[in-house]
Amino acid sequence: MTLNDLAARIAGCLILGASLPASAQEIDGSTLFNDNCAVCHAEGGLGNPGFAPPLNRPAFWQGMDAPTDYIAAVVIGGLHGTMTVDGQMYVGLRMPPLPQIEDAEIAAIATYLAGDLGQTDAIASAETVAAVRAALPDNAALMAKRPAE
Ligand code: HEC
Repeated sequence: MTLNDLAARIAGCLILGASLPASAQEIDGSTLFNDNCAVCHAEGGLGNPGFAPPLNRPAFWQGMDAPTDYIAAVVIGGLHGTMTVDGQMYVGLRMPPLPQIEDAEIAAIATYLAGDLGQTDAIASAETVAAVRAALPDNAALMAKRPAE
């Protein structure tokens, strides 16, 4: 392959990529997580003891009815309350609401957390996140969704 062929192929890929609709599957959830969430929750969701809980907890996500909806609601609306995770207490902390993150991006992040890290088959889409955004549960309702650990 000549250099010109290569350049043409790369240009073709870029044009193709730009014309595709952005859906959750095409956005890399782990990259989005590391960009938007890891400053507190650490890369890979490992957590920061006493500051932000780990999110790589399969038993927790598997114990929840709709884990991706819960994650979407926490991202859009934030969360506060006392919780104990892996024997570590998180007291008086507040996860800030991040409503500016787009639905398709939140869907990719939620699918990454519940699916890849949580080992569930839960999959979020821009549509499921939009539905959560339209009827956002309040903080008490969110805390009530958390399975006992
Ligand atoms: C500024 C720090 C900060 C950022 C940024 C942040 N979080 Fe959080 N997050 C927290 C804190 C603190 C808590 C615990 C809140 C509490 O104790 O009530 C939390 C809790 C959570 C929970 C609930 C965990 C549980 O056990 O119920 C989820 C899910 C979550 N965050 C997801 C995310 C995602 C996804 C992002 C990125 C889009 C993100 N967070 C960004 C600080 C942060």
